[in-house]
Amino acid sequence: MGEEGFSSDSSLLYHAHPPTAIVKSEVLADVAGEAPLVPNQPLLPRHYRTQDLTSRGDLVLSRRPLMGNDDLRISFVTVDEPSDLYRNSTGDEAVYVHTGALRFESVYGWIEATSGDYVVVPRGTIHRWIPAAPAEQVGAPAAEPVQVLVIEARGHIRPPRRYLSTTGQFLEHAPYCERDLRAVTGPLLADGEDVPVIVRNRTGLTRLTYAWHPFDVVGWDGCLYPYAFNIADFEPIVKRTHAPPPVHQTFEGPNFVICSFCPRPLDFDPSSVPIPYNHHNVDSDEMMFYVAGDYSARQGSGVGIGSVTLHPSGFTHGPAPGAAEAVIAGMAAGRITTDETAVMIDTFRPLLLADAAAGAEDPEYAWSWARAARG
Ligand SMILES: [Fe+2]
Repeated sequence: MGEEGFSSDSSLLYHAHPPTAIVKSEVLADVAGEAPLVPNQPLLPRHYRTQDLTSRGDLVLSRRPLMGNDDLRISFVTVDEPSDLYRNSTGDEAVYVHTGALRFESVYGWIEATSGDYVVVPRGTIHRWIPAAPAEQVGAPAAEPVQVLVIEARGHIRPPRRYLSTTGQFLEHAPYCERDLRAVTGPLLADGEDVPVIVRNRTGLTRLTYAWHPFDVVGWDGCLYPYAFNIADFEPIVKRTHAPPPVHQTFEGPNFVICSFCPRPLDFDPSSVPIPYNHHNVDSDEMMFYVAGDYSARQGSGVGIGSVTLHPSGFTHGPAPGAAEAVIAGMAAGRITTDETAVMIDTFRPLLLADAAAGAEDPEYAWSWARAARG
């Protein structure tokens, strides 16, 4: 398997059987892929509560888009059953595990994924997702559901180029490094004949039946493989005064970035205001998924754990009125850290909205700044 026309990362996979042997091909209904996406009109900042989303089932076919554009699609699903074997040949996926635990199984081997993990799946990797039974989840409350945010790119998802040396090693100033990446364990071997694999490619969704089970890779070598990175392993970079989001960048994709906001010391100048300023990131739409902690900037806006906000280009956004005063008062009382944790996706093309998310929208969010400021 190799990327960019034999000119980028690749791996050699040693199959016991020909990986070419297919015996049947059938068109599949593509519920998620054909879900309509509509422009953010009238132009509004948006707030969705993932707690109110009803999509549940397997991670592949039951994911439902929240928003997307020609560069990526962002979906959410509560995973309560194993997926079929799946190959996404339209681009890499980053699956962020919000709660619970899953086992990722692939031709390369497996990864035990848990809350806070980004699992990056290279384009074309045949894999499946198996949710852990609650009793098997180490350290998780018994009833915790398995909830994931899925970022499907139309290209490759990689560490930011500026974190890497010219030969691809993480530089010492980067907020994470090779030691933080958890590669697959393997080999993962399975017997079987006439095994169906769901394939998404640029023409739609197909079920291809393979003569032999694709999990027959006895070994592999190379630099292209799935891996996991836990958000808790991101080493935050802080400044004396407020640092803007590029310090939180975790991955880059075609026309988008993924950032991780993690627990960290507050800005440490005695006169700093350790909260974002009102800003207009004019070339981007900003999607934020609030995953843990207490998010000071959003106090009083209705946003909480499990919320997704969208702040589009064309709208100046910032902290809720009163949030700056509250955090300054907190510093005066001795507060020196923030425990906020969030995943942010900034896109350079507008994010379109999915119908599936509409039922989980807080229609009052857009007016929350004015409401709070007017009292
Ligand atoms: Fe922002």
